[in-house]
Amino acid sequence: MLVKKRTGIEIPSSEITPKHLYLSRRKFLKGAAVGAATLAGSAVLASCRPSAPGSEVETPPGEVGATTDELDDSLTEYRHVIGYNNFYEFALDKESVAAKAANFVTSPWQVTVGGLVNNPKTYDLDDLGKFDQEERIYRLRCVEGWSMVIPWIGFPLSALLADVEPRSNAKYVRFETLYDPEQMPGQRSRGYSWPYVEGLRLDEAVHDLTLLATGLYGEGLPPQNGAPVRLVVPWKYGFKNIKSIVKIDLVEEMPISLWMQASPREYGFYANVNPEVPHPRWSQATERRIGESARRDTPIFNGYADQVAALYEGMDLQVNF
Ligand code: MTE
Repeated sequence: MLVKKRTGIEIPSSEITPKHLYLSRRKFLKGAAVGAATLAGSAVLASCRPSAPGSEVETPPGEVGATTDELDDSLTEYRHVIGYNNFYEFALDKESVAAKAANFVTSPWQVTVGGLVNNPKTYDLDDLGKFDQEERIYRLRCVEGWSMVIPWIGFPLSALLADVEPRSNAKYVRFETLYDPEQMPGQRSRGYSWPYVEGLRLDEAVHDLTLLATGLYGEGLPPQNGAPVRLVVPWKYGFKNIKSIVKIDLVEEMPISLWMQASPREYGFYANVNPEVPHPRWSQATERRIGESARRDTPIFNGYADQVAALYEGMDLQVNF
């Protein structure tokens, strides 16, 4: 089957998939209350498992524009993408996240964008659907040493930020996940300072690769992948890709993320994929692509150096890890 290749690097507007708009809007309308369960907290990411069994769902729900990324790496199977997840608000083990998040209420949903902006706004799902949705095939590299290739649907964060007009003193963007311990049993554990918070420098946030994802594999985001809207920054470790966002603030000071707070020695603000800067517990030199057994070398900036290296010119990447 001939499938049009989308590089994930330059996405001409002619490649926008209108179906995504309608699908993601429709998917947004699903939801109910999630069952309660308790979790024991831990201040570190769980280590990578030797095998990655996914859910039993085999068939991707929608069409995708290509079967590989721009490096000719195959898409990770849908069942792994939706069955092997990190979402500590629901579970600490990757295989049970999908079941525990299945009834997470993701509609109605609002994202409030404010702080140092001229035009603060609260967006509901329909408002987010009005931004032109594109498919972007990106590699996702987890700091635990595994990776996937995922066909996301979403829109550049820069479009949202342009809409609220950052002021000249805005230097960083701070993101927050929903805080709702009723629905998210992990937030009842005191192991972390909830809600999940992440941050980007403003120039990183407006970079064309930085996406607000609303779907994957041709459909709206499943709850376990961060429905209804999550961040995707493909040259950074997976934990920067904050899920189920409700608040975005433009700020002057560097935000302290949940992971920086939990373990500053292990998690820096930048979290750029870098094979030469090991995590205290895991070498970052190689990775295992989920669905494969052999390990492969990890490229600097996760293979996106041509696009993003200039953002860090003159910076010591060992210090600014
Ligand atoms: N966002 C929130 N709110 N909570 C989390 O636990 N985990 C992060 C990131 N975003 C996480 C989160 C980590 S460690 C990774 S690797 C990615 O989500 C995993 O995204 P995926 O499950 O869609 O592959």
